[in-house]
Amino acid sequence: MSILSNKHILLGVTGSIAGYKAADLASKLAQAGALVDVILTGAGEKFVTPLTFQSVTGRRAYTDKDLWGNEAHVLHVSFGKTADLLVIAPCTADTIAKLANGIADNLLTVTALAARCPLVIAPAMDGGMFDHPATQENLAKLKERGAVIVGPAEGHLASGLTGAGRMSEPAEILGQVRIVLGRNGKLAGKRIVVTAGGTQEALDPVRAITNHSSGKQGYAIAQAALDAGADVCLITAPTALTQPVGARVIKVNSAMEMLNAVLAESADALIMAAAVADFTPKTPAKNKMKKRDGIPQVELTAAVDILGTVASSQLSGKRFHIVVGFAAESQNLLENAAEKLKSKKLDLIVANDISANDAGFAVDTNRVTFLFANGTKEILPLMSKTEVAEKIIEHTSKLLE
Ligand code: CTP
Repeated sequence: MSILSNKHILLGVTGSIAGYKAADLASKLAQAGALVDVILTGAGEKFVTPLTFQSVTGRRAYTDKDLWGNEAHVLHVSFGKTADLLVIAPCTADTIAKLANGIADNLLTVTALAARCPLVIAPAMDGGMFDHPATQENLAKLKERGAVIVGPAEGHLASGLTGAGRMSEPAEILGQVRIVLGRNGKLAGKRIVVTAGGTQEALDPVRAITNHSSGKQGYAIAQAALDAGADVCLITAPTALTQPVGARVIKVNSAMEMLNAVLAESADALIMAAAVADFTPKTPAKNKMKKRDGIPQVELTAAVDILGTVASSQLSGKRFHIVVGFAAESQNLLENAAEKLKSKKLDLIVANDISANDAGFAVDTNRVTFLFANGTKEILPLMSKTEVAEKIIEHTSKLLE
């Protein structure tokens, strides 16, 4: 169940060329399971049609005609009552001014006045309009009342100028919507450190020894922790994935860099999903190894064991209250995992069989078994990495209780 599953999201679309991006946002919200009701202002309709939104949300999109239609007397009130969140993207300087001053002269602003749900605003306008003291004062007023303002981003503006005024990207707005929906979740006020990806051990300035980890499971855990309201630090080895919105991201390459980043943190929980190197070149070459010098003989040495180091550092005061590890195994899954649970002094280990085609590295699914320090075990069927992440976060929050 995603944080957006069956949530009633009202998406207000006002008159800006960024309206075309709102269609993408509507689509992303609907794909994440939200029930998206779109309300377009008159100016919004000039840029994008209600049909565009209906096509991506599978639900009716509303316009000012509905303000005077058959259900006009109840429509804005029912929207206001049932909505879990109102997001206005793009939001013009004009609508911002109306919201700040309680003006209700179209279906969107009437609804905004009737609603008591959280409000997220993604401004879009020309740079000068954004900088204008009137707009800044109006935004400050809305912020003070609890509205969350996303962006605007800097960059090319429709006027041809460059500056702050571009509507934030739909992925960024979606991420902020998730944060607002999750802010009172079961991990609210808790700090969670998640590691992800496969570390890279340098052979020389251009080559490295790495592994097949895609980082998908770790990133999904970071997102699930954000959805549960946690303050998330994601320590990541290089991956091709997009950073989860709202996480503090620390990029590292090697096992040693990851260890240093982990030891610089203290938190309620550490979830070590990263595939950390066990072996590293003893002396990486300072300069690129050249073919003409023949085939290099690389001597390896043991890489730092991050969980092992954390376990010994915890003896003198707890840096992390709960530590969750992974066991990636190709044989004797449960025995090896149980052994790691004990030797690394973990509260929970997530054992996964990496020899299966549909689980482990790179794929979107995983088949895992949870082993707890108290000796209990939970065998899970094949599920998406997102679902596995939600289960891990559920157990982490129970362990923290
Ligand atoms: N891990 C770690 N530091 C390492 C290697 C692994 O902290 N140098 C962590 C991983 O992030 C994972 C857990 O230890 O949470 C188990 O990792 P895994 O690769 O399964 O086990 P190893 O300890 O490396 O043992 P082996 O490779 O011999 O199975």
